[in-house]
Amino acid sequence: MPSRPDPRLLALLCLSLASCTGDPVPSDSDTNTAAATTTDASATAVPTTGDATADYPSLAERPCPEDSILTAENFGAPFMLTHCTGCHHVALKEGGRAGAPLGVDFESLDKVRAQAAQIWARAADQNATMPPVGPPPADERAQLGEWLACGAPTAADL
Ligand code: HEC
Repeated sequence: MPSRPDPRLLALLCLSLASCTGDPVPSDSDTNTAAATTTDASATAVPTTGDATADYPSLAERPCPEDSILTAENFGAPFMLTHCTGCHHVALKEGGRAGAPLGVDFESLDKVRAQAAQIWARAADQNATMPPVGPPPADERAQLGEWLACGAPTAADL
């Protein structure tokens, strides 16, 4: 039986490594590795006009900056793939999704748009309760808030 690294050991390693924030540390309960192998979304250096320190009451009240250039292609899809669909994917059956509720899936743009308010409330702007371990940095959460507030557009929508 392969042994998993002790999370306390990983935390100690993080203290000693300057670049620790770059790669999310898989949680003990995260048995799916689909998201772990995806490309680094932060490599897509997309400027954001979102305010990383803002505290919005709801997605409905979160403004969409007029000059937003965030799209599914340059932000939304890689973000969801990196941070969410390792657990929230229709192909993952009960027992393979680390407890993510069945039916709460984000592998398509339609599903993301339909659940935008719920996604925002858990992972965008000041909200950081998803993923359960290792929430994305504030600037990425602000980008998520901006992209969702703008209607989760694709490049063709802009
Ligand atoms: C490691 C697995 C995992 C990852 C990755 C993950 N989630 Fe979750 N998610 C869960 C679990 C477990 C629950 C149920 C417990 C809870 O609600 O806190 C959940 C619940 C949710 C819920 C509430 C669903 C409901 O109907 O109650 C939303 C919304 C959600 N996640 C969004 C996201 C978003 C957005 C991301 C990416 C930013 C994400 N999750 C990443 C495991 C995960």
